Amino acid sequence: MSSLRIESAVLLSKLTSFELGGAAEHFARIDDDAMLLEALRWASARKLPVTVLGAGSNVVVSDRGVAGIVLQLTTRGVTFQAQSADIVHVRACAGEAWDALVEACVARDLAGLECLSGIPGSVGATPIQNVGAYGQEVADSIASVEVLERSTLQRHTLSPAQCGFSYRGSAFKQQPERYIVLAVSFALRAHGAPTLRYAELSQALARQTQTQTQTQTPNLLQVRASVLALRRAKSMVIDPSDENRRSAGSFFTNPVVSAARAQEVIQLAVQQQLVARAEDVPRYPQPDGSVKLAAGWLIERAGIQKGLRHGHFGVSSRHALALVHHGGGKSAELLTLARMVARRVREVFGVDLAVEPVFLGFDVDPMSEPAADGT
Ligand code: EPU
Repeated sequence: MSSLRIESAVLLSKLTSFELGGAAEHFARIDDDAMLLEALRWASARKLPVTVLGAGSNVVVSDRGVAGIVLQLTTRGVTFQAQSADIVHVRACAGEAWDALVEACVARDLAGLECLSGIPGSVGATPIQNVGAYGQEVADSIASVEVLERSTLQRHTLSPAQCGFSYRGSAFKQQPERYIVLAVSFALRAHGAPTLRYAELSQALARQTQTQTQTQTPNLLQVRASVLALRRAKSMVIDPSDENRRSAGSFFTNPVVSAARAQEVIQLAVQQQLVARAEDVPRYPQPDGSVKLAAGWLIERAGIQKGLRHGHFGVSSRHALALVHHGGGKSAELLTLARMVARRVREVFGVDLAVEPVFLGFDVDPMSEPAADGT
């Protein structure tokens, strides 16, 4: 059993995909639950705030760093347990790498996570954001989430209903101080069919199977390969040789607006000749009648081109929804660019964009415009 080692002044830029941000006042890697309890008691005795970090692929850390102690969950362990002939429960500890888990499930022909291939990050972060892509969300297959309640240090197993999942949201995101995610269990379908709900993925698979002169439904391995190729083409897998690699994936969520508001956006796009036909405006009607618009599309049509450079930062050259760091910059500069992008979309379309990554070490809403006197 390893023992808790608390370090001081640890630079968080080295631990985040954006490669930005100041130092953690204190820092520790957490390899098991006993170590987590020890670290929490250490912090509580000193009245220090605790921040939990996963793989650092969906965070923006402030230039001032993070006060208190930052705990990076590195707990490992995956188990597969057949529940019936059709359902297998896969339990993974929070510190497991997400994509390795997806790969292992696909290799065992377990359906339910295949469209979530290639997403950077750790398992423990996935229920927090309700990670989703290409027609799947983790909420579709989560059976339960094991958490530690911070105030009592009690362990609980939460049902999906208790997790309060929504589009890129959950009870964990709403109350970040309440729980620490310890492990996630997924109910996957043994030899199940892949999820083919996302037009771009279905089209890519149709092209692939045509060239292979196959007509049957693609298998999970083929779906995984297609998703990886789509993500790579958008710089949405971490590749050390990619100029867009320093990012947090989508910087904004896709805005969900009323049907009336969506209609106004569509009319505006047609009037301004941003599209030839109203149908060309990407949108995803939601079950409650609201409409999800594509933030990347709005950003580009608001005049912010892919590849735009702004000091040490810019817009990804492959996807307008990802802001990227080109090295040597500060988080404050990233936020200036992010506010500029949001402002343009608001001015052109009257739509507010919300940020997607988690912000650490900021006292005020990082997207609020600074006062004219610079305060
Ligand atoms: N689009 C543009 N310009 C762009 C990017 C996109 O016009 O620069 C248009 C596309 O042509 C398409 C629409 O916007 O019509 C949607 O684009 P895309 O399929 O790339 O997906 P997205 O809505 O931008 C979301 C997720 C991604 C996920 C993809 C695929 C959010 C915030 N993002 O992006 O997730 O991989 O769908 O399912 O929901 C992430 O959360 O970090 C992430 C990468």
